Amino acid sequence: MKYRNLNNTDLSISAIALGTWAFGSDRWWGYQDDNWSYEVLDAGFEKGITLIDTAPVYGRGHSEEIIGRFLKKRGLREKVILATKLGLSWEERRIYHNLKPKRMLEEIDASRKRLNTDYFDLYQVHWPDPDTPIAETASVMNNFYKKGIIKTVGVSNYRVEQMREFMNYCPLHSSQPPYNMFNREIEKDIVPFCKENNIAILAYIPLNSGILTGKFFFEGVKIPNDLCRKNHSDLKEPFFSINKHILEGLKRIAEQYDKSLTQLVLNWTANRDGITSILAGARNRAQLQDNAASLDWEIRPVDLEKIEELLSSRDEMVRLVKK
Ligand SMILES: NC(=O)c1ccc[n+]([C@@H]2O[C@H](COP(=O)([O-])OP(=O)(O)OC[C@H]3O[C@@H](n4cnc5c(N)ncnc54)[C@H](OP(=O)(O)O)[C@@H]3O)[C@@H](O)[C@H]2O)c1
Repeated sequence: MKYRNLNNTDLSISAIALGTWAFGSDRWWGYQDDNWSYEVLDAGFEKGITLIDTAPVYGRGHSEEIIGRFLKKRGLREKVILATKLGLSWEERRIYHNLKPKRMLEEIDASRKRLNTDYFDLYQVHWPDPDTPIAETASVMNNFYKKGIIKTVGVSNYRVEQMREFMNYCPLHSSQPPYNMFNREIEKDIVPFCKENNIAILAYIPLNSGILTGKFFFEGVKIPNDLCRKNHSDLKEPFFSINKHILEGLKRIAEQYDKSLTQLVLNWTANRDGITSILAGARNRAQLQDNAASLDWEIRPVDLEKIEELLSSRDEMVRLVKK
């Protein structure tokens, strides 16, 4: 495993982090047995993953509870960098933005209880709330920070101008945007902004929700009936065939190194300019082990060029199809 400092801090985090949305066993990811989640956490710890990312909304508290129980039972709280979020509330099936200061105070207490901890190493605003000024959200985060109950402050799904506004009221250590080989939007503005302002980037969905593992294209794995994949455009024609063609090319490169396609994808993503850590989800021990072994080798410059060519040709094919 490789470790990098969370920018501007002395917190050392693994360059591959564990994303735990699927632990929530909700409609988005479908059923997840808690015992598989405990096994993933065990395997993650064995393989040197130190950063664990969760959120209250993942299974309406369930992902946080699983992690809280695991850390307590194993006595590992001090050994992990624990990151959670706030700002999404729920009632029955509805999920909605809520960053009212009163709600933020309730949320941090509820998360501390579920995660069996007094403090968070990283506390992130999950999404901006259109009904709450950023100044108000950032001021409450700054109070948490000044009190020491959160060691560092992050935002997620924020645009550049929203981060800029946030930073007028609170230090900002990290940003969590979506990023993977098929979605490189952040390279245009978020990456340069974060580099310039020394903000760590924790990239989510590095496997494009499992699609970049290639298993739905080459291994005969059935597309799951979960909300996350059943209607995913990358798994429907004409994109399915385009993606299959590109993934075949990437797989050939991975094979030269005796690595899985997943490992090539994660290695490339974790080593992109400005990326501090990638939040890879895993549902079982085997997936975790595959993912955690992605960084102990280097992709040669000639292959980085081939990857760039493949991804550019995909962009072009997608552009033509959408025209
Ligand atoms: N801030 C935000 O708004 C936001 C949004 C989304 C995600 N996130 C964070 O980012 C994390 C990662 O995103 P994600 O979990 O949505 O997507 P991801 O990391 O792109 O994909 C993870 C999924 O791919 C499959 N997979 C993983 N490793 C595999 C392997 N080696 N071989 C085969 N299949 C494998 C698993 O699902 P199957 O086995 O079911 O295929 C796993 O749940 C989340 O858990 C969460 O912590 C944050």
